Amino acid sequence: MSNVGFSALACLFFVCCSRAVPTPLIQEAVNDRPVIGILTQLVTDDVMKPFGRTYIPGAYVKYIESGGSRVMPIRLTLSTAEYESIFKKINGLLFIGGAVDLEKSDYARVARIFYKLAVAANNAGDFFPIWGTCMGMQLLTVLVAGENLLANTTAENIAMPLNLTADAYSSRMFQGFSDDFMKILTQEPLTGNFHHYGLTVETFQENEKLQDFFTVLSTNVAENRARFVSTIEAKIYPFYGVQWHPEVNRFQWRRKLNFPHSFHAVQLSTLLADFFVNEGRKSLHHFDDAEEEASSLIYSYTPVYAGNFTAYEQIYFF
Ligand SMILES: *[C@@H]1O[C@H](CO)[C@@H](O)[C@H](O)[C@H]1NC(C)=O
Ligand SMILES: *[C@@H]1O[C@H](CO)[C@@H](O)[C@H](O)[C@H]1NC(C)=O
Ligand SMILES: *[C@@H]1O[C@H](CO)[C@@H](O)[C@H](O)[C@H]1NC(C)=O
Repeated sequence: MSNVGFSALACLFFVCCSRAVPTPLIQEAVNDRPVIGILTQLVTDDVMKPFGRTYIPGAYVKYIESGGSRVMPIRLTLSTAEYESIFKKINGLLFIGGAVDLEKSDYARVARIFYKLAVAANNAGDFFPIWGTCMGMQLLTVLVAGENLLANTTAENIAMPLNLTADAYSSRMFQGFSDDFMKILTQEPLTGNFHHYGLTVETFQENEKLQDFFTVLSTNVAENRARFVSTIEAKIYPFYGVQWHPEVNRFQWRRKLNFPHSFHAVQLSTLLADFFVNEGRKSLHHFDDAEEEASSLIYSYTPVYAGNFTAYEQIYFF
């Protein structure tokens, strides 16, 4: 989301919830020290090249940390065996926004490795959540469909309310939202869009793999009037995707960009970070070695001030 990359993109507990919340039959194991992995992005922008080969905008790190998780940056240059080893230590994965080839890049290769591991783990009862934001959501659809079905659904620098589907009201992602807040989501422009590509509702409906795998929770209309899928969750896997950017509501401030910062916008960002990190608490993966854990986490990296040459205030480079 640098000036160039940007355009290319890609607990509140309400006491009187009237919607029924399913009660789990079995007390799930809880891991109160989760680590969420964030896949780094390849630096493509010339102004960023002096700082490193890959990066993670600081906003995504703060977002995950705000939910009560630690962050592990994951480089794109490791071997499959190394990713398999990392997978056993982390409790969830965030695919962030950016602009890369979703089929042929290193980013796509590494994402596919983790995606396959996550599907196999969940199939075996080993809970492992994945969240995709913007290009990260697009990536999830490419991984599931086995092909890139994205089309021009430009919605650049615009905040919109969500057109929620009926399924949103029985979703896991919005389970903790009050009836009032669900209504607010459909009325106030709380979701910042910064993308040129997306999945049209039509394409989604015509693709059996996507239909079988995901439930659409919301749609929106692009500048070219195409209706695109803006929020999804997998039916039987803890995989979630948003075409919009929940992290910007609290952690990005560039004036020319339409980042929603209202009380409700901040609340939405908080609720979703809390939700996803709580999914991570259901994963019991862990580091065996405390030193290895410490050196793997984001804390040993210092973000760079990037407010004078990108749309981000802070970026971690690797
Ligand atoms: C919202 O989505 C429904 C279908 O789920 C569609 O019929 C309706 O036209 C959409 N409304 C807007 C404002 O896009
Ligand atoms: C997408 O559509 C918009 C609006 O119709 C247009 O301005 C833009 O050039 C298109 N972009 C691409 C990448 O085709
Ligand atoms: C941005 O600001 C930093 C520190 O204030 C400075 O060192 C750097 O040269 C600036 N970069 C650009 C591209 O202006």
